[in-house]
Amino acid sequence: MSKPIIASSTLIIPETHIIPTHVAIIMDGNGRWASQRFLPRVAGHTKGLEVVKKMVEESARLGIKYLTLFAFSSENWRRPKEEVNFLMSLFLKALEKEVVKLHSNNIKLKLIGDISAFTAEIQEKISKAELLTVNNTGLVLTIAANYGGRWDILNAIRNFLQNNPSVDPNQIDESSLTPYFSMSFAPEPDLFIRTGGEQRVSNFLLWQLAYTEMYFTEKFWPDFGVESFNDSLKWYRQRERRFGQTSHQLVEKTEINHA
Ligand code: IPE
Ligand code: IPE
Ligand code: MG
Repeated sequence: MSKPIIASSTLIIPETHIIPTHVAIIMDGNGRWASQRFLPRVAGHTKGLEVVKKMVEESARLGIKYLTLFAFSSENWRRPKEEVNFLMSLFLKALEKEVVKLHSNNIKLKLIGDISAFTAEIQEKISKAELLTVNNTGLVLTIAANYGGRWDILNAIRNFLQNNPSVDPNQIDESSLTPYFSMSFAPEPDLFIRTGGEQRVSNFLLWQLAYTEMYFTEKFWPDFGVESFNDSLKWYRQRERRFGQTSHQLVEKTEINHA
């Protein structure tokens, strides 16, 4: 059988390291964490931000290169107005308070998503934070805000076509679109974590998660911490990433490498 003509980005198989290069997290369960304690849902978001800070610190300490966090989906606007407003003010406060600390820890901050929907004040703080940290060489912390995986794919196609208006459709392959995705600066995630017990992707990085190892935990995000993170990393280390190959081929490759 001949090799299919369609080039697949997943033909580029990343080296499997003990520590994943890129970890992407759906931080879910804030509301339920709060409700269980008879607290308003937003108390869960405040507590959730504390966990974000811990996880950023731990990721940098472990030498993870990219940490991508889903903070607000394009569908989260459908929530009660008070909750959306609270999340916006928490986001603004975090931008005001935390960016200097990130910068002093050599962390580069990136935002992905349609930020044009945010207030001018938030947009300005985002630009400033990205600019301030642009030359940092440590952990790349990406916050997905008003992000949707389908939006990202459509946006990539639109931008590609704007730059290549007379392209022959048969000439378009995966690598044509790659530079136009909002996460084009990072390799695809190695490890995906979703807290809160749901086992779905909820319109997160649809394109980029094609071959990511997916870890689901019942723990609510405010209860997640260094120990739970370590459990997920331990689980990741035991995965065999085959990228379409057979287990036997992978063993052979390792043997050749060690010969
Ligand atoms: C995740 O927690 C945070 C955001 C979506 C902003 P949720 O708020 O979705 O918490 P649950 O899933 O309702 O418990
Ligand atoms: C996904 O969580 C989005 C974020 C964590 C930001 P949701 O709570 O919005 O997902 P669904 O609605 O349960 O799928
Ligand atoms: Mg949720």
